Amino acid sequence: MARSQSPTSVITIERFIMEQERLHPEATGELSNLLYDLCLAAKIISRQVRRAGLTDILGEFGAINVQGEVQQKLDVFANETVRHSVEHTGRVCVVASEEDEHPIPVQVRADRRGGKYVLLYDPLDGSTNIGVNVSIGTIFSIHRRSATKKGPGSLADCLQKGRAQVAAGYILYGSSTMLVYTTGQGVHGFTLDPTIGEFLLSHPDIRSPDVGTYYSVNESHWNRWAPGIQRVVGAFKNGDGGKVEAKNARYIGSLVADIHRNLMSGGVFLYPADTMSPHGKLRLLYEAAPLAFVVEQAGGAATDGKRDILDIKPTELHQRTPLIIGSRRDVAYASAVLGEK
Ligand code: AHG
Ligand code: MN
Ligand code: MN
Repeated sequence: MARSQSPTSVITIERFIMEQERLHPEATGELSNLLYDLCLAAKIISRQVRRAGLTDILGEFGAINVQGEVQQKLDVFANETVRHSVEHTGRVCVVASEEDEHPIPVQVRADRRGGKYVLLYDPLDGSTNIGVNVSIGTIFSIHRRSATKKGPGSLADCLQKGRAQVAAGYILYGSSTMLVYTTGQGVHGFTLDPTIGEFLLSHPDIRSPDVGTYYSVNESHWNRWAPGIQRVVGAFKNGDGGKVEAKNARYIGSLVADIHRNLMSGGVFLYPADTMSPHGKLRLLYEAAPLAFVVEQAGGAATDGKRDILDIKPTELHQRTPLIIGSRRDVAYASAVLGEK
C-alpha cells in the first residue's frame, strides 16, 4: 500500500535503484544507469501525454507500422524518446521496438566493446485510447546480450526466453504517472511528482492477491473463441461451483492499465487466440514477457494456455501469443480447464 511520505522521508527511484544495486556486490552499475535512462524517457513522454490536446501530438502520424496499425504521433514520439535515451550511453548493444520492423543495433563510436544489455519495448501501449484521454502506457524488457560477444548486437540477442530477463516494467500514464519494475527482487512502484520531476517510491513490494476481484477480456470476440476459452470466461462471469467465484468485469483496452489494476486489486486478464488471430494479438517479447516477469514477481502467473509465458522461446521479433495473466489461482483455474480433454 502507498505509504505516507513526510517531506524528509521521500525515497527517489535513483536512491532505491542504488540501494538495490548494493545488494549485488558484483554489480557494475550499468543496469542501474539503464533504468535511470528509462526514467528520463518516462518523464519526457509523460510531459507530452499530459499536454496532449494542447500541443500537436494527438492524431495519426500518417504511417502504418510493421504491425499493420496506423501509427499515432505519440507512438512515434515515444518510440524515438526511448531510443534516444539509451542509444548514446554504451549500455545497450541493440534495441527493438513494436514500432520498428527490425532490431536497431547500437554501436557507440568510442566503445568497440558495445553495450552489455538488450532493450525491447512497446513505446506506447493502448494507442487507440490516446485521442480519448484514457490511460496508456510504455512497456520495457531488458536482457543481457546472449548471442554476440561485442560490438553492435543482433536479432539473435533479442530472441531470448522471458525467464532470462534481468529487468522489466512499465510506465502507466494514468491519473498519476507511475513506473513499476522488477529486477527479480520483488515489484516496486514509483509515482512521478511533477512538481520536482522525480519518481518517488509509493508502492514498495507490490504483492497481488491470489484470487482476483476482476476479469478483463474483450467479450466482443466471444464467438471467435475456442470452447475451452468460452468455458473459462463463462466461469469468471458466472462462477463455477466452488472452483471459482463470479468476478466483476473491467476492460480498459490498454494492456498496461488493465494489468496494473489487476496487479493491485487482484484480477485476471485474457487475450486469447481466436479464429481471426490464431496466435492472439499481443506480442510476446515486449508485451507478454515483461508483464509476465512483473506479475510472477508479485505472486501471480502468466500462461499462453499451455505454457508459462516466461518459458516460451521466441523465434520472431514480433511474434504474438495468447495471454492469460494475473492472480495465481485464477490463471491456474484457466490452465486446468484448458488442459481438460
Ligand atoms: P498497442 O497500442 O501497443 O498496439 O497495444 C494495444 C493492445 C493492448 O494495449 C490492449 O490490451 C489490446 O491492444 C486491446 O485490443 P482490443 O482492442 O482488440 O481489445
Ligand atoms: Mn501494446
Ligand atoms: Mn504500442
